[in-house]
Amino acid sequence: MSNQETWTAVDEYFYSGLFKGDGVLADVERASEAAGLPAISVSAAQGKLLGLLVRGVGAHRILEVGTLGGHSAIWMAKEIGRPGRLVTFELDPRHAEVARANVDRAGVGDLVEIRVGPAAEGLGKLLDERPEPFDFVFIDADKASNAVYLDYAVRLGHPGTVIVVDNVVRGGRVLSAPDEASVGVRELVDVLAERADVDAVAIQTVGSRGYDGFILAVVTG
Ligand code: SAH
Ligand code: DHB
Ligand code: MG
Repeated sequence: MSNQETWTAVDEYFYSGLFKGDGVLADVERASEAAGLPAISVSAAQGKLLGLLVRGVGAHRILEVGTLGGHSAIWMAKEIGRPGRLVTFELDPRHAEVARANVDRAGVGDLVEIRVGPAAEGLGKLLDERPEPFDFVFIDADKASNAVYLDYAVRLGHPGTVIVVDNVVRGGRVLSAPDEASVGVRELVDVLAERADVDAVAIQTVGSRGYDGFILAVVTG
């Protein structure tokens, strides 16, 4: 077996052993695929990790940047504390439309607000609304803007807010590749290294989505 085949098989082994859900997530993935959305959502294992983190943190208010078809949003919303709210930003109205149908299908539609447009603008507007602080943030959109989104996440959060940033390893390209996304990750790491009010770690992962990884950060004060 190739490395990728092994990683996928191992993901499936653990997932089928440990999944206690109702299968609606598989329907959601099928609906997203049928609608022609790219297959770049979090894997089931990554989605479940997000859900368990949300549950463990006791998050009631969640922010997401990059909705796509709502797969990661649903994993998180299913574990949200009540009363709960998840606000997610999506640039592409077609993605947002598919996501709306998916979150409704998954039974969490009343908890999820999808804001359509460029996330940097949307986050600025949200900040102006002076909302209750957010407890958990998942950043998973255009990687070039990672540092901008991190800054908003901290400003919209509170000491203790947990921030997860997806796709920071990129098959190792993070080390030196010149593409926009890899540069965006390195800028984010530089910002995190400088900030005294956020502590962070990067975890490399393999699985059905290849070799990648995420940053886990906590607002410390
Ligand atoms: N979090 C999703 C996957 C997101 S894929 C999941 O795991 O299920 C990245 C998404 O970010 C895409 O839908 C893309 O349209 C969106 N995106 C790209 N640039 C954006 C921007 N500037 N503002 C908001 N969303 C953006
Ligand atoms: C891409 C984006 C993602 O958020 C992801 O998890 C995988 C790939 C992409 O833009 O290619
Ligand atoms: Mg991602």
